[in-house]
Amino acid sequence: MGKKILILSSYISFMCRYIGFNHLGNVAWDKGEIEGNRNFNQGNYSPYYQAPHNCWEHILIFSKGNPSFDITKMPKIIKEQPITKMVKGKNIYGHTAPFPEKIPSLLFSLITKDEIILDPFAGSMTTGRVALKYGIKSINIELHKYYCDLGLKLLENQLSKNLQGSLF
Ligand SMILES: C[S@@+](CC[C@H](N)C(=O)[O-])C[C@H]1O[C@@H](n2cnc3c(N)ncnc32)[C@H](O)[C@@H]1O
Repeated sequence: MGKKILILSSYISFMCRYIGFNHLGNVAWDKGEIEGNRNFNQGNYSPYYQAPHNCWEHILIFSKGNPSFDITKMPKIIKEQPITKMVKGKNIYGHTAPFPEKIPSLLFSLITKDEIILDPFAGSMTTGRVALKYGIKSINIELHKYYCDLGLKLLENQLSKNLQGSLF
Protein backbone atom coordinates (compact mmCIF):
# COMPACT_ATOMS: atom_id res chain seq x y z
CA MET A 1 0.00 0.00 0.00
CA GLY A 2 2.56 2.52 -1.13
CA LYS A 3 5.39 1.21 1.06
CA LYS A 4 8.27 -0.80 -0.33
CA ILE A 5 8.04 -4.41 0.87
CA LEU A 6 11.05 -6.70 0.47
CA ILE A 7 10.45 -10.36 -0.39
CA LEU A 8 12.45 -11.21 2.72
CA SER A 9 12.35 -15.01 2.51
CA SER A 10 13.70 -15.07 -1.08
CA TYR A 11 16.35 -12.54 -0.14
CA ILE A 12 17.47 -14.51 2.94
CA SER A 13 17.48 -17.74 0.92
CA PHE A 14 19.67 -16.12 -1.75
CA MET A 15 22.06 -14.60 0.82
CA CYS A 16 22.47 -17.83 2.77
CA ARG A 17 23.11 -19.87 -0.39
CA TYR A 18 25.56 -17.19 -1.54
CA ILE A 19 27.66 -17.61 1.61
CA GLY A 20 27.66 -21.40 1.32
CA PHE A 21 24.64 -22.80 3.17
CA ASN A 22 22.32 -25.38 1.61
CA HIS A 23 18.68 -24.38 1.59
CA LEU A 24 16.99 -27.58 2.75
CA GLY A 25 13.39 -26.63 3.16
CA ASN A 26 10.62 -24.25 4.04
CA VAL A 27 7.82 -24.82 6.52
CA ALA A 28 4.79 -22.50 6.33
CA TRP A 29 3.82 -21.28 9.80
CA ASP A 30 0.05 -20.70 9.81
CA LYS A 31 -0.57 -18.30 12.70
CA GLY A 32 -4.35 -18.65 12.66
CA GLU A 33 -6.40 -15.55 13.30
CA ILE A 34 -4.55 -12.29 12.80
CA GLU A 35 -3.56 -10.51 16.01
CA GLY A 36 -4.69 -6.89 16.07
CA ASN A 37 -5.59 -4.72 13.10
CA ARG A 38 -2.13 -3.84 11.88
CA ASN A 39 -1.90 -4.24 8.08
CA PHE A 40 -5.53 -5.30 7.93
CA ASN A 41 -7.73 -2.73 6.26
CA GLN A 42 -6.65 0.71 7.36
CA GLY A 43 -10.30 1.37 8.23
CA ASN A 44 -11.44 0.66 4.67
CA TYR A 45 -13.75 -2.31 4.08
CA SER A 46 -13.17 -2.65 0.32
CA PRO A 47 -11.56 -6.07 -0.47
CA TYR A 48 -8.72 -4.25 -2.23
CA TYR A 49 -7.59 -2.91 1.15
CA GLN A 50 -7.47 -6.24 2.96
CA ALA A 51 -3.80 -6.97 3.51
CA PRO A 52 -3.51 -9.63 6.23
CA HIS A 53 0.08 -10.46 5.37
CA ASN A 54 1.03 -11.15 8.99
CA CYS A 55 -1.10 -14.33 9.28
CA TRP A 56 1.69 -16.68 8.17
CA GLU A 57 5.47 -16.78 7.88
CA HIS A 58 8.20 -18.83 6.24
CA ILE A 59 10.42 -20.99 8.43
CA LEU A 60 13.58 -21.45 6.36
CA ILE A 61 15.94 -24.33 7.14
CA PHE A 62 19.56 -24.38 6.00
CA SER A 63 22.53 -26.64 6.64
CA LYS A 64 26.26 -26.27 6.42
CA GLY A 65 27.42 -29.33 4.50
CA ASN A 66 25.15 -32.33 4.19
CA PRO A 67 22.33 -32.52 6.73
CA SER A 68 22.46 -35.36 9.22
CA PHE A 69 18.69 -35.65 9.32
CA ASP A 70 15.88 -36.41 6.93
CA ILE A 71 14.29 -33.10 5.87
CA THR A 72 11.25 -34.94 4.47
CA LYS A 73 10.28 -35.65 8.11
CA MET A 74 9.51 -31.94 8.52
CA PRO A 75 5.89 -30.93 8.06
CA LYS A 76 5.06 -28.65 5.12
CA ILE A 77 2.75 -26.55 7.28
CA ILE A 78 2.59 -25.97 11.03
CA LYS A 79 -0.43 -24.36 12.64
CA GLU A 80 0.49 -22.57 15.85
CA GLN A 81 -0.86 -19.52 17.68
CA PRO A 82 1.71 -16.73 18.12
CA ILE A 83 2.89 -15.86 21.65
CA THR A 84 0.47 -13.57 23.46
CA LYS A 85 2.66 -10.61 24.27
CA MET A 86 0.24 -7.66 24.36
CA VAL A 87 -1.77 -7.45 27.56
CA LYS A 88 -3.88 -4.31 28.08
CA GLY A 89 -1.83 -2.52 25.40
CA LYS A 90 1.50 -3.39 27.06
CA ASN A 91 4.15 -5.81 25.79
CA ILE A 92 4.67 -8.13 28.77
CA TYR A 93 7.27 -10.22 27.00
CA GLY A 94 9.85 -7.60 26.04
CA HIS A 95 10.27 -8.61 22.38
CA THR A 96 8.00 -7.51 19.53
CA ALA A 97 8.01 -10.84 17.67
CA PRO A 98 8.92 -13.88 19.78
CA PHE A 99 8.04 -17.20 18.17
CA PRO A 100 6.53 -20.18 20.03
CA GLU A 101 8.92 -22.91 21.20
CA LYS A 102 7.18 -25.33 18.84
CA ILE A 103 8.87 -23.60 15.86
CA PRO A 104 12.52 -24.43 16.70
CA SER A 105 11.40 -27.72 18.29
CA LEU A 106 10.51 -28.94 14.76
CA LEU A 107 14.22 -29.24 14.05
CA PHE A 108 15.49 -30.25 17.49
CA SER A 109 13.38 -33.38 17.48
CA LEU A 110 15.18 -34.54 14.28
CA ILE A 111 18.85 -33.74 14.93
CA THR A 112 21.50 -35.34 17.12
CA LYS A 113 23.24 -33.80 20.15
CA ASP A 114 26.48 -33.22 18.25
CA GLU A 115 24.84 -30.72 15.87
CA ILE A 116 25.11 -26.95 16.42
CA ILE A 117 22.09 -24.76 15.65
CA LEU A 118 22.56 -21.22 14.32
CA ASP A 119 19.80 -18.62 14.66
CA PRO A 120 21.10 -15.47 12.92
CA PHE A 121 18.05 -13.36 13.93
CA ALA A 122 17.75 -14.61 17.48
CA GLY A 123 15.63 -11.90 19.15
CA SER A 124 14.76 -13.14 22.64
CA MET A 125 16.68 -16.38 21.87
CA THR A 126 13.78 -18.82 21.88
CA THR A 127 15.91 -21.08 19.66
CA GLY A 128 18.73 -21.04 22.23
CA ARG A 129 16.34 -21.86 25.09
CA VAL A 130 14.84 -24.81 23.24
CA ALA A 131 18.37 -25.96 22.33
CA LEU A 132 19.25 -25.98 26.05
CA LYS A 133 16.20 -28.16 26.77
CA TYR A 134 17.35 -30.68 24.18
CA GLY A 135 21.00 -30.49 25.36
CA ILE A 136 22.09 -29.15 21.95
CA LYS A 137 24.58 -26.31 21.39
CA SER A 138 23.37 -23.17 19.68
CA ILE A 139 24.76 -19.90 18.34
CA ASN A 140 22.35 -16.98 18.68
CA ILE A 141 23.07 -13.73 16.82
CA GLU A 142 21.08 -10.58 17.59
CA LEU A 143 21.65 -7.06 16.24
CA HIS A 144 20.06 -5.05 19.06
CA LYS A 145 21.70 -4.96 22.48
CA TYR A 146 18.35 -4.61 24.25
CA TYR A 147 17.08 -7.89 22.73
CA CYS A 148 20.46 -9.51 23.20
CA ASP A 149 20.34 -8.71 26.96
CA LEU A 150 16.72 -9.92 27.13
CA GLY A 151 17.65 -13.18 25.35
CA LEU A 152 20.63 -13.77 27.64
CA LYS A 153 18.48 -13.16 30.74
CA LEU A 154 15.86 -15.65 29.51
CA LEU A 155 18.62 -18.13 28.64
CA GLU A 156 20.07 -17.81 32.15
CA ASN A 157 16.60 -18.45 33.64
CA GLN A 158 16.29 -21.53 31.41
CA LEU A 159 19.77 -22.66 32.42
CA SER A 160 18.88 -22.49 36.11
CA LYS A 161 16.06 -25.00 35.35
CA ASN A 162 18.34 -27.28 33.32
CA LEU A 163 20.96 -29.54 34.86
CA GLN A 164 23.13 -29.53 31.74
CA GLY A 165 24.41 -26.77 29.45
CA SER A 166 26.36 -23.54 29.76
CA LEU A 167 26.46 -20.07 28.20
CA PHE A 168 29.58 -18.67 26.64
C1 LIG B 1 11.41 -11.86 14.28
S1 LIG B 1 12.65 -11.40 15.42
C2 LIG B 1 13.17 -12.97 16.00
C3 LIG B 1 12.43 -13.39 17.23
C4 LIG B 1 12.91 -14.67 17.83
N1 LIG B 1 12.64 -15.80 16.98
C5 LIG B 1 12.29 -14.85 19.21
O1 LIG B 1 11.61 -15.87 19.44
O2 LIG B 1 12.44 -13.95 20.05
C6 LIG B 1 13.98 -10.98 14.39
C7 LIG B 1 15.18 -10.41 15.13
O3 LIG B 1 16.23 -10.21 14.20
C8 LIG B 1 16.98 -9.10 14.64
N2 LIG B 1 17.76 -8.62 13.48
C9 LIG B 1 17.35 -7.88 12.44
N3 LIG B 1 18.35 -7.67 11.58
C10 LIG B 1 19.42 -8.33 12.08
C11 LIG B 1 20.76 -8.50 11.62
N4 LIG B 1 21.18 -7.95 10.49
N5 LIG B 1 21.59 -9.26 12.37
C12 LIG B 1 21.17 -9.84 13.53
N6 LIG B 1 19.91 -9.69 14.03
C13 LIG B 1 19.05 -8.95 13.30
C14 LIG B 1 15.93 -8.12 15.14
O4 LIG B 1 16.48 -7.19 16.06
C15 LIG B 1 14.92 -9.06 15.79
O5 LIG B 1 15.14 -9.18 17.19
